[in-house]
Amino acid sequence: MTEITYRPEAPDDALVILELTDRAFGPGRYAKAAERLREGNRLIAALSISAWRGGDLLGSVRMWPVRVGDGVSVFLGPIAVEAEERKHGIGAELVARACAAAKEAGWGSVFLVGDGPYFGRMGFVAAPGVRMPGPVDQRRVLWKALAEDAVALEGLARV
Ligand SMILES: CC(C)(COP(=O)(O)OP(=O)(O)OC[C@H]1O[C@@H](n2cnc3c(N)ncnc32)[C@H](O)[C@@H]1OP(=O)(O)O)[C@@H](O)C(=O)NCCC(=O)NCCS
Repeated sequence: MTEITYRPEAPDDALVILELTDRAFGPGRYAKAAERLREGNRLIAALSISAWRGGDLLGSVRMWPVRVGDGVSVFLGPIAVEAEERKHGIGAELVARACAAAKEAGWGSVFLVGDGPYFGRMGFVAAPGVRMPGPVDQRRVLWKALAEDAVALEGLARV
């Protein structure tokens, strides 16, 4: 089997990535509070990683620049892996590579809205100080420090 390659998102990838995330999340995803941090925003392509086998997209994670209170952070999501490719570590690899790229680029932290049991394995912890711009289960708001001197995120998240 052709090996999996991971690379930053290119402009031509957008359509197939949207198709994957629409399939993975269903139509409800555009109503989520997380979407408020993506609409009108511009993704950071260099940190948004996708997994490919040849010309087939296997998974994608996207990263967005967001203000939180007086500071800034990268907002991670959506993350999706093709259903038949799941449970082989692609999701974890996408998150690891996106976080490493963000750290390399000088970002102090990453945050997201997601399942604690999944993202906890990757070092994400609760971010009780982050207010999302819409209704959300606060326990699902998670962050991860990238810089050693990163301070806990505090305040309203907004584009
Ligand atoms: C979540 C998702 C990206 C994980 O991709 P993946 O490539 O299967 O991830 P990994 O292989 O790194 O990890 C798989 C493990 O995480 C577990 N897992 C997957 N989703 C989980 C969740 N929401 N909560 C807890 N554990 C989860 C799997 O059961 C599996 O466990 P195992 O290693 O004990 O078998 C993929 O399942 C997906 O696209 N889901 C639909 C979209 C989605 O819900 N995304 C956001 C999640 S908050």
